[in-house]
Amino acid sequence: MISIVSRPPPGYTSQAPVASALRIPPGRRERPRRITGLLPRRVTRPPIPTVEGISMSTSDRPATAAGTFTIGGDLPVRRLGYGTMQLPGPGVWGESRDPEEAVRVLRRAVELGVNFIDTADAYGPFVADHLLKKALHPYPSDLVIATKAGFARTGPGQWVPIGRPEYLRQQVELSLRHLGLERIDLLQLHRIDPSVPLADQVGELAALQQEGKIRHIGLSEVGIAEVEEASRTATIVSVQNLYNLSRRDAEPVLEHASARDMAFIPWFPLATGELARAGGPLASVAEEHGATPAQLALAWLLKRSPVILPIPGTSSVAHLEDNVAAALVDLDDAEYAVLLRSVA
Ligand SMILES: NC(=O)c1ccc[n+]([C@@H]2O[C@H](COP(=O)([O-])OP(=O)(O)OC[C@H]3O[C@@H](n4cnc5c(N)ncnc54)[C@H](OP(=O)(O)O)[C@@H]3O)[C@@H](O)[C@H]2O)c1
Repeated sequence: MISIVSRPPPGYTSQAPVASALRIPPGRRERPRRITGLLPRRVTRPPIPTVEGISMSTSDRPATAAGTFTIGGDLPVRRLGYGTMQLPGPGVWGESRDPEEAVRVLRRAVELGVNFIDTADAYGPFVADHLLKKALHPYPSDLVIATKAGFARTGPGQWVPIGRPEYLRQQVELSLRHLGLERIDLLQLHRIDPSVPLADQVGELAALQQEGKIRHIGLSEVGIAEVEEASRTATIVSVQNLYNLSRRDAEPVLEHASARDMAFIPWFPLATGELARAGGPLASVAEEHGATPAQLALAWLLKRSPVILPIPGTSSVAHLEDNVAAALVDLDDAEYAVLLRSVA
C-alpha cells in the first residue's frame, strides 16, 4: 500500500498527526486528502522561526520542509529551489509572454521559502536576470542566486558553447551588472567548449574567484572525468546535469557528487513537464494517493540523495505552489520503488 505523508516540522504537535491525516490506512479504499498547495486545513502547525527571525509556519513556507544543503561548505540553501528558464519567451528567447506573472512567480517562490534560484545569462539572453532583479532586488540576505556562463545565444532554441576566457569574463561581468550583485555566489560553466582547453575555461573562473567576483564554481552537463580534470584547476562545488525519475543516465556523476558532498542540481527535474502532466506516467499513482504528479517527481528526487537540489522551472504561480509543496511529501522506501517502476 502506497502512502504519502508529510514531514513534521521540528516541534510539531497536533491532535491529529500529519502522518495519519495524509496516510492511507491499510485496507481502506478512501482517498487521502489532496496535498496540493498547502496542507489540509484541519492540520495546524506551530510557527517556526526562520533565519530572518520572522515567525512563519512550514505550511506558509513549505520549502523549509525540504531541509538544507550547504554548497561549498559555507552556503546553506533549502534543497527545493527554482529555475528561471521558463520565464523568457518561446525557445528561451526574448521577453516573457507574461512579465507580470513572471515577477509574481519569483516573489512567490521567496514567500514560499525558496532561497536557491538557478538562472543563466543565456536565458533570454538576460531576460530572466532582469526579471529576477526587478522582482527581488535588493535580495533577501539568505537568497542564493546560481548563474551560468558559457553559451552564446544566436536565436530561439539556439545555443552555442563559447568557453574562451575573455568571453566567460565578459559574461560574468554582465551577469553581475544585470543581476545587481557584487559577487556571484555560484557560477556554473554552462557547457565545456570542446575547442578550448578545460583548464583555460575553469582557470578564468578561478581568476574571477580570486578577484572576488565569484564565490563558488560549478559545472554543467559533465562526466566524472571532466569533474576530476576541472578539479585540478579549481575547487568544484556543484554539478548540474540532466536527471529526473525517467532519465537517470547521470547516476554515476550523482554518485561521484554524493561521495564528495558536492551539490548535484538536476536540470529537467520534471522532464520538461512530461512527469508533471495530467495523463503522464505518474498521473495514476498521483491520483490514487492524493498528490500531484509534479510533487511525486520532485519528492522522489529529494529522497534520492541529500546532495540533490531540484530546481523545477515554471512560468505560473499555480504550478510553482504545486511544486514547492513537494517538500511536504515524504516517500517511504516502498513508495520510492513504486515511482521508479511507474516510469520503467
Ligand atoms: N544546465 C543546463 O544546461 C540546463 C538545461 C535546462 C534547464 N536548466 C535549469 O533547470 C531548470 C528546470 O528545467 P526546466 O524548467 O527546463 O524543466 P522542468 O522543470 O523539468 O519542467 C518545466 C516544464 O514543466 C511545466 N511545469 C512545471 N511545473 C508544473 C506543474 N506543477 N504542473 C504541470 N506542469 C508543470 C512547465 O510549464 P509551465 O511554465 O506552464 O509551468 C514547463 O513546461 C531550468 O529552469 C533551468 O534553471 C539547466
